[in-house]
Amino acid sequence: MNPLNHVAIIMDGNGRWGLKNKNSRNSGHKEGLKVIEKIIKETIKQKIKYLTLYAFSTENWRRPKKEIDYLFNLLENFLISKIGELDKKKIRLKIIGAKAFSKKLNKLLIAAEKKTIKNDILQINLALNYGSKLELINAFKRISNSQDEINEKNLIKYFYTKNIPDPDLLIRTGDTKRLSNFLLWQLAYSEIYFEKKLWPEFNENDYIKIIKKFKRIKRNFGKI
Ligand code: FPP
Repeated sequence: MNPLNHVAIIMDGNGRWGLKNKNSRNSGHKEGLKVIEKIIKETIKQKIKYLTLYAFSTENWRRPKKEIDYLFNLLENFLISKIGELDKKKIRLKIIGAKAFSKKLNKLLIAAEKKTIKNDILQINLALNYGSKLELINAFKRISNSQDEINEKNLIKYFYTKNIPDPDLLIRTGDTKRLSNFLLWQLAYSEIYFEKKLWPEFNENDYIKIIKKFKRIKRNFGKI
């Protein structure tokens, strides 16, 4: 059975769920946040050490301001009300992406990272204002300005995901089969599962089923 150390998730389908069920895209985001909490609990139960969640991409800035404001407000309230609980459960929160938000949100994110830095039950990497192409360009720029030889081991030191093992498993909900500029380098050998359900419909049992399938798959990493 394959060990499972790191799960990455593209939580797609909030907008469609919200429009279909409550006539507003934002209500889908609100519902999606509840699913995040369930999945965190199950991730701990499964003894998985890293969970990376794609919450906001560098391309998501193209959405209407009203939706962007709603998402960040949701995140602010989540941080304010839940960071104590995450810390108690020994969960570490790390942001991957450029912290270029409001002063208030930047401060909250930095404080949350600092407060939970020593926690070791689960590390949640929240991808916020994250774009894989930008991460790669910045890494190449920085390595070119350093004394480091350009090789795989040195290059990954310049990624947001420095010190984080690559995902073993990527799940994308929402019945869409693409990577959307997410961890393009880091997903090179990950197993990928595309789930038909929209993110707000996804639950622990769906997650457990995917994990079970993953554990049985033969992973070759280029060998035979
Ligand atoms: C993709 O669905 C989802 C997002 C862009 C946001 C993910 C956010 C949450 C799960 C809520 C928690 C919020 C934060 C910031 C932690 P979509 O809106 O692209 O759905 P669609 O494909 O149906 O339009």
